[in-house]
Formats: sequence, structure tokens, C-alpha cells
Amino acid sequence: MTPTTIAIAVLAVAAFGTIVLLLGNAASQRRMGEDIPPALRPGYSDDQLESNVLERYMSWGLVLTLFFAVFLPVYWLREPARINSKATEEFVQQVVRGGELFEANCAECHGIDGGGGAAASPYGGQWPAPNLTNIVKRYEDSRTITDVQNLIETTLHRGRPGTPMPAWGSDYGGPLTDLQINDITAWILAQQVDEVAEAQPAADLSGEQLYTQNCVRCHGAELQGVVGPSLVGVFERHDEESVLGILRNGINLGNGVIMPPWQNGYLYEDTRYTDEALGKIVDYLAEQQPAELPPGAEQYQSPGLGEPDPEPPATEEPTGTAQPTEDDTAGPAPDATDAEPTTTSTDV
Ligand code: HEC
Ligand code: HEC
Repeated sequence: MTPTTIAIAVLAVAAFGTIVLLLGNAASQRRMGEDIPPALRPGYSDDQLESNVLERYMSWGLVLTLFFAVFLPVYWLREPARINSKATEEFVQQVVRGGELFEANCAECHGIDGGGGAAASPYGGQWPAPNLTNIVKRYEDSRTITDVQNLIETTLHRGRPGTPMPAWGSDYGGPLTDLQINDITAWILAQQVDEVAEAQPAADLSGEQLYTQNCVRCHGAELQGVVGPSLVGVFERHDEESVLGILRNGINLGNGVIMPPWQNGYLYEDTRYTDEALGKIVDYLAEQQPAELPPGAEQYQSPGLGEPDPEPPATEEPTGTAQPTEDDTAGPAPDATDAEPTTTSTDV
């Protein structure tokens, strides 16, 4: 018997007792005057009141008062624990359901334990699928991703347009309901490990190699832009320090695709880079700029995959990136909500 059943049993007995008492009274009153309406029946006579009628009433009142005086606080004290254990129970069930959904839908790309894998790229070759077991840690100190749970849910709903990550939410034409997406998110959150690999100095890799490994699939071998914007003319928009900041922190303008933060390691353990490695990439980008920029190259040009969500600025320059900050460990943080479409043209 759980405490709840005991409490219910006690309450039931008390209620039953009260009813018997009231019925008993009503019956005895009825015997006194069969045809008189209840409101007009004479009350107890003085003699009756002299006997134990009043005491009986008062002691029952006392019993009930004492009962509630004990029952209610005890119930109240136990309530938070009860709610907590229910919530835990619910979360555990969610995680179990989420695990099954993950295995059926996600494991082929992200690995059976969510540890990362690869998918066929729509542009040929392979596209790495991120490790999801350290996603909280990876974005922990990110300036552009402030709410990882929200990032996971948004990513699940709409996918990453232009990448192999499909849209799962029925609101974006996917097969999963909101509840199923919540379940999978719960499962992912329950898998989190508390560590990411050490940042790699990538000492033996050139800027070109680093760019080819990490950036080509989104920005193109000629810097022409694929999922991410064209990087031809990028230094017309940002100075080198700002570009370094973008590489450290990533950008998320909210059009579905994100530019990952490379200082925390994006896909695999070995893609977590020090400023030294990122600096090599910046140098490479600078070297690759054509001597003469094609017309319009100084504009932020994105293939614009995916609809902006909810307000534009998918094809706008992320404003705020042009200001290098004094903070060395974390560069400037362009942010969707900060980007003001009206000011972008004046920056060009
Ligand atoms: C066809 C392969 C494929 C399937 C199936 C797939 N994903 Fe992905 N997922 C990817 C790829 C590739 C990326 C990285 C996209 C990018 O580079 O921006 C990704 C990115 C993500 C991210 C963002 C990770 C980050 O660090 O920003 C999350 C979260 C995610 N997937 C969860 C899931 C879940 C949950 C499922 C199952 C419902 C799933 N994915 C199914 C390929 C896949
Ligand atoms: C998963 C795709 C993806 C990968 C991988 C990626 N980027 Fe990006 N990148 C983007 C997207 C998308 C944007 C634009 C952000 C937005 O619009 O939200 C962007 C923006 C940028 C910008 C800012 C451009 C501007 O004019 O504001 C730079 C610089 C950049 N990326 C460099 C890189 C480099 C260097 C790498 C490799 C280390 C890289 N990116 C890897 C998707 C990616």
C-alpha cells in the first residue's frame, strides 16, 4: 500500500462516517415530524440539548479538524517529492521512447550511440554528421547559440537546409510529431558527456588542408559559396580579426544552416582548433582572394538555402562582425537578433 492509497482509505472512512452521522440525524429528525418540511421542523428541545447531543457534534468536529490538521500538511509536504518523482518517471519514459526513435531514424548517420558518423553529401562525397553526445558542452560558451535545447529542437524541426540533415518536423514536411521530437531531444540530452577534446594546434596541417577538410562542403573549393555564403570578398566586409572571431564562434542567423563554432570542436574530436590553426585558415582565405574582385563580391552573397526564421536577414550581412572585440578568447558574435537589415548596406 502506497501512502496515497492509505490517505485515500482514511479519507473515505472519514467521509463515510460523516455521511452516516448526517443521515442518522436526518432520520431521527424525520421520526419527530414526518410531514413537516425540514426547514420548519422544531430544533432540539432544551432537554435534548442538555443531554450529549452538543458534545457529540463538537467531538465529531474536533475529530475532523484534527484529521485535516494532520492530513493536509503531510500531504502538502510530500507533494513536491511526488511531483518530482512523476517528472523523473515521465522523463525516463521520454528518453526510452526517444532512444527508439533515434535508433530508427538517426543512427544511420549519427551513429547508434549518437557519437557521430557520416552521410552521403548531395554535392558528392561524404558529409560528416556531428557527434551529438557532447553537443551541450560544445555550445556551452557559445555566444551565438545560447540555448542548446532550442538549437536541437529547431534543427530537428527544419533540418539543416542544403546539408544531408533532413527536416523531421511535420511543420516542415517531416515525418515526426512535436512530441516525438521532444522525446528525441530528451534522449540526446540524457546522453551528454561532460567533455570535448583538447583543441588541436593542427601543426602539421596547412591552411589549405584545414579549409578543404572543414569548409569546402559549405563554402566551396573556389570560395564561391554552397550552403554558406561566398567568401570571395569576405575581407571587404570584415577585417581579419573579425573573420577569426567568426571562425571561433560560428554564426547563426537563424535561416536553418549554422556556421559552426570551431573553437569548441564541431563534428569530430579532431576538429577543435586553436587560434593558431584558425589563423592559418584566415591567411588561406586572404591568399585565395582574387586580385580583382568580381562585381558585387563585396556584398554578402548566400545561396539562401532555407527560409529565414522568423525574420529575414538570411541574405544580409551579419552586422556587428566588423567590430573586432578586445576579447581574445572569443571573437565578435554576430547574432540574428542584432543584425539590422537597414544598416547593412551602409557597411559595404
Ligand atoms: C541522412 C543523414 C542524417 C540523418 C538521418 C540525421 N541527421 Fe542529423 N545531421 C546530419 C548532418 C550531415 C548534420 C550536419 C549538418 C551540418 O553540417 O550543418 C546533422 C546535424 C544534426 C544536428 C546539429 C548538430 C550540431 O552540432 O549543430 C542535430 C542535433 C542532429 N543532426 C540530430 C539528428 C537527429 C535527432 C536525427 C534523427 C531524427 C538526425 N539528426 C538524422 C545528418 C543526418
Ligand atoms: C555547415 C556548413 C558550414 C561549414 C562547415 C562552414 N561554414 Fe562558414 N558559414 C556557414 C553559413 C551558413 C554562414 C552564414 C551564416 C548565416 O548566414 O547564418 C557562414 C559564414 C561564414 C563566414 C562569414 C561570411 C560573411 O561574409 O559574413 C566566414 C568567414 C566563414 N563562414 C568561414 C568558414 C570557414 C573558414 C570554415 C571552415 C573552417 C567554415 N566557414 C565552415 C556555413 C558553414
